[in-house]
Amino acid sequence: MTVTAPFTIRWGIISTGQIATDFTQDLLVDPSLRGVSDVKHVVAAVGSRSVESATRFITKLKGAPTTDLWSWGVQQGMLDETKALGSYQEVYNDSNVDIIYIGTPVTHHHKDAKAALLAGKHVLCEKAFTFDVAELDELIAIAKEKNLFLMEAVWTRFHPISYAIQDVLKSGVLGAPKRMQADFSIDFKVDNRPLSDRFLDAKLGGGGLLDMGPYPSVWAMLLLHQHPLNTKRVPPAFVNSYQRKYTKRGTNVDARSRWLLDFEELGCEAQLMTDMTCHGYKQGAVLLQCENADLVIDYQPQKPDTFRIIPNDGSDATVKASTHHVPIPAELGHGLHFEADEVARCIRDGKIESERMPLSESRIVQSWFDDVRKNGTTDLKDMKGTAGL
Ligand SMILES: NC(=O)c1ccc[n+]([C@@H]2O[C@H](COP(=O)([O-])OP(=O)(O)OC[C@H]3O[C@@H](n4cnc5c(N)ncnc54)[C@H](OP(=O)(O)O)[C@@H]3O)[C@@H](O)[C@H]2O)c1
Repeated sequence: MTVTAPFTIRWGIISTGQIATDFTQDLLVDPSLRGVSDVKHVVAAVGSRSVESATRFITKLKGAPTTDLWSWGVQQGMLDETKALGSYQEVYNDSNVDIIYIGTPVTHHHKDAKAALLAGKHVLCEKAFTFDVAELDELIAIAKEKNLFLMEAVWTRFHPISYAIQDVLKSGVLGAPKRMQADFSIDFKVDNRPLSDRFLDAKLGGGGLLDMGPYPSVWAMLLLHQHPLNTKRVPPAFVNSYQRKYTKRGTNVDARSRWLLDFEELGCEAQLMTDMTCHGYKQGAVLLQCENADLVIDYQPQKPDTFRIIPNDGSDATVKASTHHVPIPAELGHGLHFEADEVARCIRDGKIESERMPLSESRIVQSWFDDVRKNGTTDLKDMKGTAGL
C-alpha cells in the first residue's frame, strides 16, 4: 500500500495579538488528534510591526510546557525555521511562505490582505473580512485576477457541530422555517478598557457590530441562506436596524446592534443582535422556529457545544425532543485548525475559494454590516475604507 505524504502548507502569520496567538497554537497541535493526516501546517514566518514582538511571539510558543497541546509542534521542530520579521511586507515577500494569515484589527484587513495578494500570496483573513463591501470587492477582484486563494476566517463554519446541525435541517424533520433569532453578546467590561482598545477606537472598527456581528450572521447563513428550501439562494432583504451607542469618555461606537432580515423565499425573518456591554442569552443564543419543532443552539454561538430540538405542541410525532452535545474537546485545541485544514486542502486542490466559506456569502454578510453602520449614528457611519488606495 502506498502512503501519500501529507500536503504541507507554509504559513506567514501577520500580527502578534490574541487571535494570531490562538491560531498559531492550533497550527502546532498534532493533526492526528483530530483525525487529519492529509495536510500539514508549518509556521514559516511571523510578522509584526516590531521585530521584538515577532521574536517574543515565537520564543513564547517555543517555551510552551509539555502540558500545552502546541508543544507537540515545538517538539517536532515546526518552529525551528520560523523567521521573526519586523514588518508585514517582509512576510508577504518571503518565498518560503505560501499563505498569509491576517489577525490585525478590522480596519487594517483590506490593506494587509491587498498587499499580501499583490505579493502573490494566498490569504486567510480574520472576521469581519473588511470594513466595507467596497474593500471586499477589491480583494475578490485581485484574488481572482491573480488566481490566489482568499477566505474569511469564520471558524464556526468548520466546526463539527455546524455540519451536525445542517444535517438535521437537511433531514427535513423540523419542517419549513418560520422565524429565527441569533444573538452574540458578551459583557466585555468596556468601561475598564483603554480608549485605544479595538472595541472602543472607531479607527480600529470599534463597537460590537464588526467584531461580534459575524457570529449571529454565520447562523443566518447556515440555517436559512443554505436551507434546502431556500433553493434560489437570493440574499435576504435587509428590513431595518438599530444601534445603541456607547458614548462614554468621548467615544461613539455601537454598544448594541440589531438588524432584521427577510428570507423571502422561505417566508422567514431573522433578527440578529450583538452587544458588547451585556452577556448573551445562555440558552437559545440561536433559535430557529420551524413548522414541527424549534432548533435551539446554546451559548456561545461562535463555538457552541450543544443544540436541542424541541417539538411543537401537537406537532408531527416523528420529531422527538433531543439534546445533542458536539463539543470540540479541549484536547484538540481552540478549534481554529479546522479552518486551517480547509485552507490547506483548497490550495492543494488548486481552488481559489472554499465551497464551505464562499466569497459570495462573505459579501452578503459584509453588506449587512454596511447597512447597519449607515443606518446608525456612530463615528463609523460615514467612515470610508481603504478600497482603491
Ligand atoms: N476568530 C475568532 O475567534 C476571533 C477572536 C478574536 C478576534 N478575532 C478577530 O481578529 C482580529 C484581531 O483581534 P485580536 O483580539 O487578536 O486583537 P489584538 O489582540 O488587539 O491584536 C491585533 C494585532 O494587530 C496588530 N496591529 C496592526 N496595526 C494595529 C493598530 N493600529 N492597532 C492595534 N494593533 C494593530 C498588532 O500586532 P503587531 O503589533 O504584532 O503588529 C496587534 O497585536 C479582529 O479582526 C477580530 O475581529 C477573531
